[in-house]
This record gives sequence, C-alpha cells and structure tokens, in this order.
Amino acid sequence: MSTFDIDAFRAQFRSLPRLVYLNSGSYGLLADSVAQAFKDYLDLRMRRGADWGAWVGELEAVRAGMARLLEVEADDVAITASASAGLNALASAIDFGGARNRILVTDADFPTGAQIWHAQERAGAQVIHVPENADHMVSADAVTALIDERTALVALSHVCYRHGARLPDEAIRRICDVAHAHGALVMLDSYQVVGTRPIRPRDLNVDILVGGMLKYLLGTGGIGFLYVRPGLIDRLVPRTSGWFAQADIDAMNIFANDPSRTARRFEAGTPPVPSLAPARAGIDLVMETGLDAIEAQIRQVTRHALDGLAAEGIRYDNPTDDARRGPLISIPTHDQHALVAALAGRDIVTSNRDGRLRAGFHAYNNEADADAFVAALVANRGLLA
Ligand SMILES: Cc1ncc(COP(=O)(O)O)c(C=O)c1O
Repeated sequence: MSTFDIDAFRAQFRSLPRLVYLNSGSYGLLADSVAQAFKDYLDLRMRRGADWGAWVGELEAVRAGMARLLEVEADDVAITASASAGLNALASAIDFGGARNRILVTDADFPTGAQIWHAQERAGAQVIHVPENADHMVSADAVTALIDERTALVALSHVCYRHGARLPDEAIRRICDVAHAHGALVMLDSYQVVGTRPIRPRDLNVDILVGGMLKYLLGTGGIGFLYVRPGLIDRLVPRTSGWFAQADIDAMNIFANDPSRTARRFEAGTPPVPSLAPARAGIDLVMETGLDAIEAQIRQVTRHALDGLAAEGIRYDNPTDDARRGPLISIPTHDQHALVAALAGRDIVTSNRDGRLRAGFHAYNNEADADAFVAALVANRGLLA
C-alpha cells in the first residue's frame, strides 16, 4: 500500500481547513490541479478559439484514465454527458418487446436509474422493485429469487445515495452468476463509490458499470462514464446515436448509422468539452493518491466518526460493518434542512436526502473533521430523530 500523507493531500484543496467538507457524495472538493485544468481550458479558448484536436485528445485522456482506474480496456468505456445519458443509451439497446422484458430494480437505486427503467415501459418493459431489508441492505437472495428467463437486466446500486449501505463484492458476484446463468445482464451504478476504493468490474463480473466524475472522482459535472463488458458491446446497438458514436467520426455520412465497434457507440454528439480537462485532472489526482490509500483513509475517519457518534448516543442510519458501508454517514433528523443549515453555520458542509443528513467523507477528511461533525450534532441534538 502506498504511503499516504494526509496533510500533503489536504494542502491541495484551498478550501481546507476553512471548511469541514463532508459533501463529497454531492460534489467533490476542488483541488488545485482541477482548478488549473479549468483555467487551462479557458486559456486555450482565449488563445486559439477552437481546438478540436486538443478537445478530442482530452476526451481520449479521460477515457484512458477511467480505463486505468477500473482496470479495463479504453475501448470498453464510453464517456457520456452524465450517468443518466449512459443509462439511456444502454436502455435503448435492449429489446423489451419479447418474453425477456423484465428489469429488476432495487430500492437502493438513485432515482435517475429507476426513472429510466420505468421509461422503458412504453417499449414493453416490466419493472420489478426489490425491497431493501430493515437494515437497509439489499440481500443477494432477494434479488436472485426474482431472476428467471424473463429477466433482461438486473440494475444494482453499489452504494445507496440515501444511507450509504454498500452491496458487498460477494453479493454482486453471486447476483451476476445467477443472472448470467439465466441469460440476464447486470448493471452496477457505482456513482456513490467510484473514487473511494478500487472497483474492478471484471472481477465483480458485472456487464455494465456506470458513474460520473462529479463526486469522489474529484472532477466536475456534465460528464459521466459507462463501462460495457467486451463481447457484449457488439450485441448492444443503441437506438440513441450521433456523430461521436460512429465507427468513423469523420465519415459525415448522412445515409447510414454505423455505430462504433467500441463502447463509443453509447456516446452521442459533441463531447462535454469544458468538463473534460477537470475530469481528467480529478481522475489523475485519485490515481496518483492511490485507491487503496484513499479507501484506508476514508475507512479510518468514518470509523472514528461512527465511534464518536456511538459514544454520544447519536443514532446513525448507515450500516456499522466496514464491509457493508460506503463513504457516507447518514443521520436521521426531524428537520433535514434545519440540521444541514445548522452545520453550515459552523462551516461544516453536508447535504440531506430523504429525512437524513448525509455526510460524505473523502481522503481529505481527517479525524478533526470527524470530531467537529460529531460535536455539531451534539450541539443540535434537538433536531435529531
Ligand atoms: C448513485 C447515483 N447514480 C446516478 C446519479 C445521477 O447521475 P447524473 O446526474 O450524472 O445522471 C447520481 C447523482 O447523484 C447518483 O448518486
């Protein structure tokens, strides 16, 4: 494991130590290198006006970076305008008109995924929801019990955006085994976890993995990615398309759609040009820091915070077990907006979802941040549920 110097890492974020930043599940904090990438993009615009060559170069650098991060081939990664854009392209490539028309969606799903799967009902899809247990975990048994020859796709959420429960690797593999034995695909939405620990879609055996660069990848919005397993790409021909999705972007052929042989077929038009360089810089920073080191730091600091909450008798809603939780701590509250505002008054930045305060930790958070978080909750006990 690489040695991790938290002070040196924190020094790359100008907002620290002024902010106790616990909002990485919404938007990662801005690092100097990412800010510089934004400035370089604007400089290029000022100097050259348009530089398609440089932008396409950045697109390929982002693709290569995501491929390194996921330990897959660049040809298996589409760079999209959002996670939703990738999911829509994927959905358009699946035929829901026949007997295999079911989509299993767990209740841990972020709304965008579930909404996109429900949108396929017009094309004949039947969406079946898999509930989570009282402990917020989605059990592999509950998912596999519903998989059969009618299942087209199993949509899994890796870490739930509401309470931070993480689907363990063994559960994902087991669901994939059963799904594949029945001819179904498995899609994993890793947006709330990518950048916080090593994620290897090939080891997990998932067919598709989706996410974006706004949160723990420390980049920016307006950009996402879709990994599609090689061997599957040929079989999935999206009904969405565009010139950047063609086998030859320069073909300019208006008489046919000739989708790329690679995952680029899930892309569409002009790449998210202003977001490319910051996304690449965020991925580079995560990779230089090391996913193992980031995972260890997050685990240690969130464990410190959970111990502090337990010592104060403050209830949290995420699983306690390290193997079943992501980087989020979630706190039930009577008034989510008032609690987030009360913490913001102490320069502690959090967010709220579904009656909970959400604190998303990254490797730039130290134990002092965790202590400040616990102290702020103690000071606002009246708002806790
Ligand atoms: C787990 C998860 N999936 C998907 C999304 C949506 O991503 P996008 O807005 O890029 O479509 C989010 C955004 O917060 C998310 O947390």
